[in-house]
Amino acid sequence: MKLDKSRDLQQRSHAIIPGGAHTYAKGDDQYPVEGPAFLVRGKGCHVWDVDGNEFIEYGMGLRSVTLGHAFTAVNEAAWRAMQNGINFTRPAPIEVECAEKVASLIKSAEMVKFAKNGSDVTTAAVKLARAFTGRERVAICAEHPFFSVDDWFIGTTIINAGIPKPVRDLTVTFHYNDVGSIERLFDRYPGEIACLVMEVERNEPPTRAFLDGVRYLSRKNGALLILDEIITGFRWHIGGAQAVHGIEPDLSTFGKAMANGFSIAALVGSKEVMEAGGIDHDRERVFLLSTTYGGETHCLAAALETMRFYEREPVIETLRCQGERLLCGIEQLVTSHRLEGYFGVDGHPANLTYYTRDADRRPSQQFRTLLLQEIIRRGVIAPSLVVSYSHSDEDIDRTLEALDGALAVYQRALSDGIDHYLMGRPVKPVVRRYC
Ligand SMILES: Cc1ncc(COP(=O)(O)O)c(C=O)c1O
Repeated sequence: MKLDKSRDLQQRSHAIIPGGAHTYAKGDDQYPVEGPAFLVRGKGCHVWDVDGNEFIEYGMGLRSVTLGHAFTAVNEAAWRAMQNGINFTRPAPIEVECAEKVASLIKSAEMVKFAKNGSDVTTAAVKLARAFTGRERVAICAEHPFFSVDDWFIGTTIINAGIPKPVRDLTVTFHYNDVGSIERLFDRYPGEIACLVMEVERNEPPTRAFLDGVRYLSRKNGALLILDEIITGFRWHIGGAQAVHGIEPDLSTFGKAMANGFSIAALVGSKEVMEAGGIDHDRERVFLLSTTYGGETHCLAAALETMRFYEREPVIETLRCQGERLLCGIEQLVTSHRLEGYFGVDGHPANLTYYTRDADRRPSQQFRTLLLQEIIRRGVIAPSLVVSYSHSDEDIDRTLEALDGALAVYQRALSDGIDHYLMGRPVKPVVRRYC
């Protein structure tokens, strides 16, 4: 594989950009040495790197591109909006139209406020909950890996440099599918917790008792329930994972799958709470999401077209079905290569991830790197196994062929030692304290 242009750009990018990329999850430390570092073009689920190599991909813009790269209907809608200008001194009608569309699809959305990033809307939900309840403490689900780039969340991770201790101390944790852990928090901090923040579902499905318990305990203790649907929204269901599992939050946040990769996110919730961020009440005001680019018309047009596309085409069904096809094929490969317990797939069919373990069955970044290296060599980039509406049967079959070859190498590396097969340093977790 020719990689000369990638190598040149890598040198230039590290000289000018801390980390070499504007998103950690896209950085060099996440990928093997032998692979493309920069992508220039995408169409459907295929991408091309700066050196002209073509790949099928399963990262899809960090799960934001659900329909496919350069998806014509969405791009045309954005382009049409751009012809009339994208940012004015007063709101554009599409701000109302798009908010009405979101409210029509998500049952708990009585009011809607847009921003550009998932982090911003989830942080806004926390701020609103704090203002609404007059409390400062925030309780988050410990098993859910990411809610926001902001201090209230990053302060709870091991990369907490630069975040004051008093801020870190205000966020406490409970455990998924463990109602007792929430009861204990409310007992320990009576009258102090403003909100519970969690995803409805990640890899482990929720129990009915847990969801009912979360809702009951938050109401009983005067805290708001915030559901982060940045990944699950418009992927599990057009009404979010809250529609699948029948749970009604006070506030919830959407992003990623809303606009096929265009930058837009939404905070939605009950009128009673959301109105605190408005200008028609006698209470103290909450400064809720007000940014220069919050109402850019082309992103809203992209979101509107994406949501309409979900309404008229079987997108959600296709994501599930193609994810299941991939999952089923991988399970057969794992059996045929005798890799049970070493390599496997987790999660919802529309949001699959995989694990890699070494010969002692311990989680292994080295084996993750080897797998990435071997599938990239065979024309597939798969940091996760997230399908889009553009992943055809043929794409999935080609991916399974690539995995077949890669897993044969994996099996040999388990017995001969990985050093015989791995080229260069292993990848590293995104969230780690030191470089
Ligand atoms: C569950 C969840 N919430 C929030 C965010 C933050 O979204 P953004 O990157 O758009 O700020 C992410 C990002 O990956 C996420 O996965």
